[in-house]
Amino acid sequence: MSSRALTLGRILLFHLFFTANAQSPREVAWSSRSYGPDGPWQAVTVSVGTPSQNFDLLPGGSWMSNVLSPSVCRDTVESLSCSPQASGFYNVSASSTSYITPVTSFVHNDSFAGVMGALPLFGNATWAFDEITFSSGYPSAGSVTVPDFDMFVISEGYSTLPDGSEYSLEVGNLALGAPDVNQSWARSGDSRWNGTLLTSYLYETGQTPSNSYGLHIGSAAIGIPGSLYVGGYDQSRVLGAVSTQEYGSDNLPIDLLDIGIGVAEGGSPFNYNAKSGLLAQGNSSIGGSMTILVDATAPYLYLPQSTCDAITRDLPVVYDATRGLYIWSTEDARYEQIVSSPSYLGFTFRLNSSVIQNMTINVPFSLLNLNLTAPLVTSPTPYFPCRPYSSGKEHGRFSLGRAFLQAAFVGVNWQTDHKGRWFLAQAPGPNTPSIFTPTAIGPTDNFLYASTNQWADTWKGHWTALESTTTTASGSAPNDGAGNNTASGNISYASHSTLDLSTGAKAGIAIGAVIVGMAIVVTLVICFERWRTDRNARLRIRQSGNLPLSNHRYGSSSIDLKTWGNERYKGAGFGPGELDAEHSDRIPELG
Ligand SMILES: *[C@@H]1O[C@H](CO)[C@@H](O)[C@H](O)[C@H]1NC(C)=O
Ligand SMILES: *[C@@H]1O[C@H](CO)[C@@H](O)[C@H](O)[C@H]1NC(C)=O
Ligand SMILES: *[C@@H]1O[C@H](CO)[C@@H](O)[C@H](O)[C@H]1NC(C)=O
Ligand SMILES: *[C@@H]1O[C@H](CO)[C@@H](O)[C@H](O)[C@H]1NC(C)=O
Repeated sequence: MSSRALTLGRILLFHLFFTANAQSPREVAWSSRSYGPDGPWQAVTVSVGTPSQNFDLLPGGSWMSNVLSPSVCRDTVESLSCSPQASGFYNVSASSTSYITPVTSFVHNDSFAGVMGALPLFGNATWAFDEITFSSGYPSAGSVTVPDFDMFVISEGYSTLPDGSEYSLEVGNLALGAPDVNQSWARSGDSRWNGTLLTSYLYETGQTPSNSYGLHIGSAAIGIPGSLYVGGYDQSRVLGAVSTQEYGSDNLPIDLLDIGIGVAEGGSPFNYNAKSGLLAQGNSSIGGSMTILVDATAPYLYLPQSTCDAITRDLPVVYDATRGLYIWSTEDARYEQIVSSPSYLGFTFRLNSSVIQNMTINVPFSLLNLNLTAPLVTSPTPYFPCRPYSSGKEHGRFSLGRAFLQAAFVGVNWQTDHKGRWFLAQAPGPNTPSIFTPTAIGPTDNFLYASTNQWADTWKGHWTALESTTTTASGSAPNDGAGNNTASGNISYASHSTLDLSTGAKAGIAIGAVIVGMAIVVTLVICFERWRTDRNARLRIRQSGNLPLSNHRYGSSSIDLKTWGNERYKGAGFGPGELDAEHSDRIPELG
């Protein structure tokens, strides 16, 4: 190689290094407060408007951020305590930098089902833009400001219980980007009203390395601090296999293959060490997998009745039909054992949309020991967050909310042209390093690097292993997929330790080689197909020359939000009578 080429190479490297270094992921600082009434959930603090109004929001969701107006308190049923003053309000008319476009629709006495996640919510709201500022400790201490930030300002907002009774909202959410750069509304001529989004604004203005984020909400109760980075993630929050898949226009879908119960070490509080097959148990309509949404804006695990039944069969819980949740029987001796032992609920997902690989995220029962507080109950009540859900009736889809995300890392690299990917991985327990390892996500990165830490180690000292009752098992025998402890099951690992391979082992190796060979062929075919579809999609877009307006879930580019809004609400079957006083019953006492 000539010296000139070497010099050029050095200059190139130098530039690469500095461009990469100039853009570090941005940390978002967390609030010291946490919120209910079904948490505690950790939040981040933001300042909005001029003069600035400070309040807390739960991080998660896409497109606009839902914020609460002071009036959410005014019209609530008298008997229910109004708690949003704890998180703080946003008064749009008190800010000189706020802006409500003439074309955004106003939701009046209606369902937010079309615009929000799994929660059934009702009330009044409108879109507004304003300046938002949050504080950050990395890469340097300081504050970050986003102008024209896209918000859905809720002036009256209720969540409903399965029996129809309502309670007022306590805290909003900070949305973390969207498939499009802005949320835009058409106006006459070619120009548009643009509401900006957090991740895309910071990337577009060169403040972060990509239009992406990495989030682990952690747990206030167990002492796992929250972690949120824009343009990157904290590598110590990502353990084991990271599943990468395509995102939806307003959701993060993945195939859930199974749910099981297991014990990481020591004895089991159940009369088995491991059990699987809980997702589809007693429900033949659930086949090999079920699409589920991972949603940080919703609190519970929204699963079919049959799945909640299967999961809770061996738990000391009582179903509370009013709240649609399971209440822990705290006087039962097994309660304390289960929520303090290394036992967990394991969620097995399709890995990287593969048909042959999977990965499991374990959620210790200690994290599934959440608290109901006022206005849902009169005194704090430990509950298990399974919500029997029927996808058709409640306008949502089966979802894993914050109860699950306490133990899972979620990230999205939105990229552009809807070509991005989202990431899901096991998150650690409370034993995490206090020195963070912020890692940038590149503009087109389709995978993340995990830390090398072992999940069980991140819980050491924070759970109490039970005495092993069986003499043979090592206590944490792997699950063979049939609900049996493999130590006593019919699979033998003996051949691994003998020098002379048995015929069975040889046959196994031969079969294994064939399977690996087939897997390689399948992967190649999938890769080729994907490349072909990608190329075709690119070609189509280029030919049409007409990228859709970024009105999420409102479909085609020719429909502006107002039209969509009116039509959508007209057809939704929710009359204004839905909020009649007779439905605003007081929530009955527990028990
Ligand atoms: C919104 O963004 C587009 C660029 O995509 C720009 O042409 C338009 O002027 C912007 N509208 C406003 C009101 O800034
Ligand atoms: C997003 O909105 C901002 C503010 O109006 C505008 O400057 C920018 O060009 C928009 N970007 C796109 C891609 O529309
Ligand atoms: C069975 O599963 C389906 C989803 O595949 C769900 O809609 C239905 O409610 C479940 N049935 C029961 C009894 O839980
Ligand atoms: C996950 O993969 C393992 C190993 O390939 C397999 O034994 C197990 O049955 C799979 N689990 C599910 C639920 O598909």
